[in-house]
Amino acid sequence: MEIIRNIKEMQCFSDKNRADGKKISFVPTMGNLHEGHISLVRLAKRLGDIVVVSIFVNPTQFGPNEDYRSYPRTFEADKNKLANENVDVIFYPEASEMYENPKTFVYVEDYSNILCGKSRPTHFRGVTTVVAKLFNIVKPDIAVFGEKDAQQAFIIKKMVKDLNFDIKIETGKIIRESNGLALSSRNGYLTEGEHNRASYIYKSLLKAKETIENGERDGNKIKEAIRKILNENNVGKIDYIEIVDDDTFTPINKIQGNIRILIAIYVGKARLIDNMRVEI
Ligand code: PAJ
Repeated sequence: MEIIRNIKEMQCFSDKNRADGKKISFVPTMGNLHEGHISLVRLAKRLGDIVVVSIFVNPTQFGPNEDYRSYPRTFEADKNKLANENVDVIFYPEASEMYENPKTFVYVEDYSNILCGKSRPTHFRGVTTVVAKLFNIVKPDIAVFGEKDAQQAFIIKKMVKDLNFDIKIETGKIIRESNGLALSSRNGYLTEGEHNRASYIYKSLLKAKETIENGERDGNKIKEAIRKILNENNVGKIDYIEIVDDDTFTPINKIQGNIRILIAIYVGKARLIDNMRVEI
């Protein structure tokens, strides 16, 4: 496994392998890897010949009062996990390698200021900018993202389409703990009590899915039922509960077609997100 810290070197590696007819699959991450990330690495391995994983805590996607400085950085442990998965390259740049007084940003309109974008107004601009840069650096054929960050995956697909990146975007399903809590680097901020109560996020999503499958079509009623479960179990301060059409990512009130229910909630020091797709 190679560890590449320099942009030019990464580009040369990819040019050479593509010239040899190798298919490069890419998993962008911010490190502190858990089984959710590893599931994407395994998917990438099935889809391509060469797997590149990037580890970069991207400053431009954190707001001024967010956890950029305290975000967990665990490179040695991450490296061992990726070596066990037979990853070919870790791209692990310094912030100064990635950003030198940047004046160019990528912004996907309409989808970047709803849901998570409302409380994190500069977040998705940072994500799309860094992912566009990583695509130009790693030059993958395929890139893999998690459904855990469903809005992020939707926005990346839109960016790829709008800017004609010649890259296939694949998504991997959400990996959860045994109590249902979606794995996240930010779960490390939770106390044991918060951690237990956070399992109601998934339970409320399951309940909502069941209600829809039993015929409920009023989105407001479903959101109210979720709110009730979260509040009754003192999970935390709800940021949003929303239902979107999963093909267009547009918020809807009447349930029809394939929909996705999304939740963001502040639990202790963490802001947690989760979602569930429901097909009817
Ligand atoms: P990060 O939070 O490290 O996540 C990297 C990838 O892992 C994302 O595609 C995310 O959706 C996926 N992921 C996280 N938790 C998961 C889980 N429980 N199950 C399945 N997949 C999961 O997302 C980012 O980094 C950054 O925004 C990035 C795209 C790297 C740009 O900086």
